[in-house]
Amino acid sequence: MTTYTAKAHTNIALLKYWGKADSQLIIPTTTSISLTLDEFYTETAVNFDASLTSDDIYINDDQITGAAGQKVVTFLNLVRQQANITDFAVVRSNNHVPTAAGLASSASAFAALAGAASAAAGISTDLTDLSRLARRGSGSASRSIFGGFVQWQRGNDDQSSVAEPIQQIIDWPIQLITVVISDQPKKINSRSGMQNAMQFSPDYPAWVKRTNAMVQPMQQAIQNHDLEMLGHMAERNALEMHAQNMMANPAFNYLTDRSWTIINTVQKLRREGILAFSTMDAGPNVKIISDPKDTETIIHALRSSVPDIQYQIATPGPGITIQQGNHL
Ligand code: PMV
Repeated sequence: MTTYTAKAHTNIALLKYWGKADSQLIIPTTTSISLTLDEFYTETAVNFDASLTSDDIYINDDQITGAAGQKVVTFLNLVRQQANITDFAVVRSNNHVPTAAGLASSASAFAALAGAASAAAGISTDLTDLSRLARRGSGSASRSIFGGFVQWQRGNDDQSSVAEPIQQIIDWPIQLITVVISDQPKKINSRSGMQNAMQFSPDYPAWVKRTNAMVQPMQQAIQNHDLEMLGHMAERNALEMHAQNMMANPAFNYLTDRSWTIINTVQKLRREGILAFSTMDAGPNVKIISDPKDTETIIHALRSSVPDIQYQIATPGPGITIQQGNHL
């Protein structure tokens, strides 16, 4: 069968997905809103081949086995089931999401895999269908099918839990400064982190309500190009997500002293009139939502707090592209 290559970009959630209403189908408790990022992406080529005796998976030329390999095989089984085929596949993936950027690569990885595997298996590559499928690999991957600002509608079943674009062309100034605190793999992966918060934080149902209540105002802030309103809500929602982890019993925490130094510096910058806002996911790295014109001021302030700071700048990025052939 023919090889197809897909390219998908990672995304950062402004309103978070942190908990599943259905863990089998990956239906979230909240509707989430994200920004797809241009600089960080995954390219994946897939070919189903009748002569193979198992799936062969390579990431950046290293063959992947064990738990990570199994996640990909489970995902390919879904594709085979939908396509009604039994052939195994060769999957080659190049990740341009440096661990040091402090961003998760699972969103771009499963979005690219959904695109390339669907095309190679001959099933629908309609973007809504791809979003639905990508969701089964990693929830946040459902949003990486689309560019710009994206909303993953929580829905209530497999059919209705899909992402859709809110604003694909972003012609107003917004960027993300990703500050590297640690490039070590996370201690608690997102799956068990969100499960623990959901099960053991007494505030969790209220967090879900507050997050879902912010969906409409967040859409409004995006439509109005209102960085201040968008940033305030994103920072609040992220801090509240981390508060759930700290309220769980036993409590757990992704943020380190350094994370808090950055968060405090960003809040101090705001008191000085700079529009900068923090967001953090399932790890200690802090991502700063800001206007590109303030980069120098922000970096200067960060360096005064943490002299050896490392950072990368990301701007809004496009949705998935799929091409026939191997284009790695
Ligand atoms: O898609 P997952 O299972 O890696 O979970 C992502 C969870 C967060 O990054 C913390 C929030 C989000 O909405 O992306």
